[in-house]
Amino acid sequence: MTVSSKIVVVTGGARGIGKEVARRLVADGFSVAVWDLDERAVMTTADELGALGVTCDIADYDSVCAAADRTQAESGRPWGLVNNAGIDRFGMFKDSRPADWRAIVDVNLMGPLNVTRRLLDGMIEAGDGRLVFVSSDAGRVGSTGEAVYASAKAGIIGFAKSLARETARFGIKANAICPGPTDTALLAEVRSAPRGDKIMNAVEKSIPLGRIGRPSDIAGAIAFFMSPDADYITGQTISVSGGLTMV
Ligand SMILES: NC(=O)c1ccc[n+]([C@@H]2O[C@H](COP(=O)([O-])OP(=O)(O)OC[C@H]3O[C@@H](n4cnc5c(N)ncnc54)[C@H](O)[C@@H]3O)[C@@H](O)[C@H]2O)c1
Repeated sequence: MTVSSKIVVVTGGARGIGKEVARRLVADGFSVAVWDLDERAVMTTADELGALGVTCDIADYDSVCAAADRTQAESGRPWGLVNNAGIDRFGMFKDSRPADWRAIVDVNLMGPLNVTRRLLDGMIEAGDGRLVFVSSDAGRVGSTGEAVYASAKAGIIGFAKSLARETARFGIKANAICPGPTDTALLAEVRSAPRGDKIMNAVEKSIPLGRIGRPSDIAGAIAFFMSPDADYITGQTISVSGGLTMV
């Protein structure tokens, strides 16, 4: 299979990290399908990058199935999946309510389960495939103001490792990437929450490499996991966070 015949789905690819991942994978020769909740942004991004744009809510299994059917019909069977879409609601756990937890868990944990379950059969049938989960350093070491988010992000690391074990015999590799604070709209939202800016400034000061991440930093690591150089790597978790955590 040549790279250009490999189709990779990037969820949450309309902006931020996902958009840079999609841009990089297109540049590396993959055929990319960008799935995103934001109907207008996903079409603009898809046009800009030369990708397929599909509107999809990853928290809704029916929506995921419809997106998979469209991708299959217009591009073909996905070989790779970057589970990138995610949301955050910054705030102390003691002030939170069940409705906030549900929204975070539905997108950040249930979302990757929905999309992976729907695309996995095709990979198993092909005897080949790549799964990359965009987790967070919050899921590895915890994060003040992000308790539920960190729970969901830790959950997908466990999911990635378990899938790596279950699907290795089908030629599928599953790995996780943990960004640290990265310059996107999501980080701007965190900074605008009460205490968010103060806490993020403190985190930023403790990054050994002295700056927050750029979406392209994360895209490079994901492109590596999609490349032949990662053929013998599965079940691994890599932080891309300027040394913020060393786990
Ligand atoms: N930016 C950071 O500092 C940072 C740090 C660690 C981890 N992450 C993770 O990286 C990933 C990308 O984050 P980002 O900073 O680019 O965020 P972002 O908010 O800039 O972009 C997220 C994209 O996901 C889409 N999306 C949200 N909910 C969706 C849903 N239910 N279905 C489909 N699409 C949906 C949004 O429309 C948006 O286009 C997320 O999983 C996030 O948790 C980000």
